[in-house]
Amino acid sequence: MAFVTSREMFARAMNSDYAVGAFNVNNMEIIQGIVDAAKAEQAPLILQVSAGARKYAKPTYLIKLVEAAVEDTGLDICLHLDHGEDFDICKKCVDDGFTSVMIDGSKYPFEENIALTKQVVEYAHAKGVTVEAELGRLAGIEDNINVDARSASFTVPEEAAEFVARTGVDSLAVAIGTSHGAYKFKGEPYLDFERLKKIHQLIPDTPLVLHGASTVLPEFVNLCNEYGGEIPGAQGVPEEMIREATKYGVCKVNIDTDLRLAMTAEIRRYFAEHPAEFDPRKYLGPARDAIRRMVQHKIKNVLGASNKA
Ligand code: G3H
Ligand code: 13P
Ligand code: ZN
Repeated sequence: MAFVTSREMFARAMNSDYAVGAFNVNNMEIIQGIVDAAKAEQAPLILQVSAGARKYAKPTYLIKLVEAAVEDTGLDICLHLDHGEDFDICKKCVDDGFTSVMIDGSKYPFEENIALTKQVVEYAHAKGVTVEAELGRLAGIEDNINVDARSASFTVPEEAAEFVARTGVDSLAVAIGTSHGAYKFKGEPYLDFERLKKIHQLIPDTPLVLHGASTVLPEFVNLCNEYGGEIPGAQGVPEEMIREATKYGVCKVNIDTDLRLAMTAEIRRYFAEHPAEFDPRKYLGPARDAIRRMVQHKIKNVLGASNKA
């Protein structure tokens, strides 16, 4: 039981039909819900921390909580920085004991993204830490944008191959139609699987990462809306599309929105049904249970990662 890099996890997932879940963590209940699910399923696990999470909880609290999770569950856990926006935050996390970092240079031109990613790879690899980078833009999909315009922001397979060769990055996040948040598609869900297959063909040894991969479970959206929430029209990536992606090099599937929805739905329900209650343990407990059940479902039925730890 320890903090581990993603290298071994991805090596095992690479030529199989499963992916490792990478779940965003912001507080104790979220961490406990996720690790209990991973332990029950004996699944490999990445816990990831965004800049927003660091700001909210303070880095040291999150690191100590993940240390506690390793000790409590006996699981090997990869502690990963999500969407590191510059060299400094990546360096800080490497120095703090993270075993994996993402440098997200996707907003920069190709050459700048390469230069920044190389700088992080050099620093992180010297300390045995793995690095994820991103090429292509994850955009919200609008009704009136046609497929050609939409594809313009997607990852170009030949560029992905050149990017990986020149940076030495360990894994690559690709843009094939997913986006962050609860409103991923206005019409029919669409992912560019031909593009994904082409990328995987050109860089068959590079683990690919799918950001914006929440399925936005209707169960939780409906609960939220039923108990006073206003999130109409929320739509995620269908479960079968995530399963399909794991066949073409996708080894890491990023999930945050589904955690937020599960937690919020249970808290809303609890408040509505127990208006006189004000002990936070009474509503955070069910919220933690909802996260555990949801993550267990995901590991078993969507990621196919049960018994792969
Ligand atoms: O990719 C975004 C993740 O959902 C993290 O979100 O920056 O609000 O913590 P956050
Ligand atoms: P979701 O918003 O689909 O959960 O994506 C999370 C993510 O990609 C974190 O990096
Ligand atoms: Zn992301």
